[in-house]
Amino acid sequence: MALNEGLLREEIQKKYSEVARDPKKGYHFNTGPDYAADLLGYARADLAELPDSVTAPFAGVGNPLSMGQPSFGETVVDIGAGSGMDAFLAARAVGESGQVIAVDMTDAMLEHGRGNVALTGMTQVEFRKGLAEALPLDDGTVDLVISNGVINLCPDKASVFAEAFRVLKPGGRLQIGDIIVNKDLSPAARENVELWTA
Ligand SMILES: C[S@@+](CC[C@H](N)C(=O)[O-])C[C@H]1O[C@@H](n2cnc3c(N)ncnc32)[C@H](O)[C@@H]1O
Repeated sequence: MALNEGLLREEIQKKYSEVARDPKKGYHFNTGPDYAADLLGYARADLAELPDSVTAPFAGVGNPLSMGQPSFGETVVDIGAGSGMDAFLAARAVGESGQVIAVDMTDAMLEHGRGNVALTGMTQVEFRKGLAEALPLDDGTVDLVISNGVINLCPDKASVFAEAFRVLKPGGRLQIGDIIVNKDLSPAARENVELWTA
């Protein structure tokens, strides 16, 4: 039996739709601004400037922008942006002449993220529906690719990295926060959708 990738995507979408609609419910993973500040090193002052609607559904596992901020006027893509906390932090750095494209596959997150654009007035952020494995972006158009807590949810990691490198300009940067399993998994474990999403 092979991993049912369609089912896996459905289950991931179900889970993150719930996070978008009810971010404070409590999940098997950490969420929210206190977690981001206490465990991942985000600056509380930066997070305090963003509305709760941006920071409460945060479900990343690292801090991609701690590796370097984008410059004014640059184009950034956030793969699997969720409610957009990293995307809005990047948007402050690139300013109004820059652009942040927040890609996600889950409709409820996209809707929530677009609401956050309206709420913050940071119109340099655009939420765009798409897959990490098939980014809705042209070749060589992006200065910085960020992603936080998403690639561990993608079975075809080679495609995700190929897509990131396809959209990057020559000399562009890739800054990722994610989870790595440091040993081989049994086929039964790999094929168990519950283990991917639990
Ligand atoms: C753990 S959350 C992280 C969200 C955000 N990066 C953050 O730090 O709050 C994972 C997000 O990735 C999205 N996602 C998962 N697999 C994806 C894929 N293959 N393509 C696009 N988005 C995906 C989910 O819809 C969800 O919003």
